[in-house]
Amino acid sequence: MAEDKVAVVTGSSSGIGLLTAVELALNGYRVVATMRNLESRGRLEEAAQKAGVRDRLDLRRLDITEFDSLPGAVEAIVRDHGRVDVLVNNAGFSVAGFAEDMALDELRHQLETNFFGNVAMTKAVLPVMRAQKSGHIITVTSVAGRLGQPMLSAYCASKYALEGWSESLRIETHSLGIRVVLVEPGSYDTDIWTRNVMIAKGALDPASPNKERSQRFAEFIKNSARHRRDAREVAKLIVRIARDPNPKLRYLIGTDAKVQVWLKRIVPWRKYERMIAKAVKID
Ligand SMILES: NC(=O)c1ccc[n+]([C@@H]2O[C@H](COP(=O)([O-])OP(=O)(O)OC[C@H]3O[C@@H](n4cnc5c(N)ncnc54)[C@H](OP(=O)(O)O)[C@@H]3O)[C@@H](O)[C@H]2O)c1
Repeated sequence: MAEDKVAVVTGSSSGIGLLTAVELALNGYRVVATMRNLESRGRLEEAAQKAGVRDRLDLRRLDITEFDSLPGAVEAIVRDHGRVDVLVNNAGFSVAGFAEDMALDELRHQLETNFFGNVAMTKAVLPVMRAQKSGHIITVTSVAGRLGQPMLSAYCASKYALEGWSESLRIETHSLGIRVVLVEPGSYDTDIWTRNVMIAKGALDPASPNKERSQRFAEFIKNSARHRRDAREVAKLIVRIARDPNPKLRYLIGTDAKVQVWLKRIVPWRKYERMIAKAVKID
C-alpha cells in the first residue's frame, strides 16, 4: 500500500481517469481527482463511495487548457497534500473526420488539449518532482501514437506529438529521479467514443466529397463497439506502473493495439495501408 503517496489525475469525471482515480485510492494513494467541470463529479463520487474510498479522494476543478492556472493549481495541491508522487496525464478527446474535411482550427483545438494541455500540466508538476527527487509522470497516449489511423489524423498527430515530447523528457529527467511513462491503450469502452468525440464540421457537410466514405466508416465504428474492452484493465496497469520504481517507457495495452502494432511491423507498408483501408471500409 502507498499510504502517504499523493497522485494527481486529470480528466477523472469519466472513463479511464475515473477508474484510475478509484483504483489508486484502493491501493492506498491519496488522490487529487481533477476535472474541468465539478458538476460532472457524480459518477466518480458514486464509484468511490461504492469502492469505500471516497475519503481518499480530493476532487478539484482543473482544465488542462487553462495553461496559466496550472502552476497555481499544483502549488495549491502541494500546500494541501505536501507532495505529488504520481501525475496521471489522462485528459483528452478526439476529433474525427477525413483530414480533407477538417478545419485547421479543429486540428489546433485537438492539439491544444491532447498535446499542449498535457505538456503544460507536466511542466507545472516538474519543479515539485525535481525538488522531491522522485515522481512518476504517466501519460495516457494511445496506439494512435504509434500508427496513423484513418479519420483520426488530428488525434494521431496529437498523440504522436505527446509520444515524441515524452520520450525526450524521459531522457532528460531520469537522473533527477523522475520516471516518464507512456500508456498506449487500444479500444476501451469509455465516453471518448460517444460524448467526447467531436465530428469535424466539414465531415457533417452534405457537400463533403467524403460523405459516403464517412458514412461507411461510421458504420464500421458502430459495429466494432462490441469489441471494446473494460477500461479497468488500463486503470489497473496505471497503478502497477505507479508502484514500479523502474517502469519501462511504453506500455501498449489491449489485444487490438498489440495486433495493430505487430502488423505494422511485419507487413510491408503498401500492403498494410490497403489492408486497413479495406478493413474500415474507406477504400
Ligand atoms: N477509450 C479508448 O479507447 C482510448 C484509447 C486510447 C487512448 N485513450 C485516451 O485515454 C484518455 C482518457 O479518455 P477516455 O477513453 O477515458 O475517455 P472519456 O471517458 O471521454 O474521458 C476523457 C476525460 O478527459 C476530460 N477532458 C477533456 N478535455 C479536458 C480538458 N481540457 N481539461 C480537463 N479534462 C478534460 C473529460 O472531461 P469532461 O467529462 O468534462 O468531458 C473526461 O473526463 C484520453 O487521453 C484518450 O485519448 C482512450
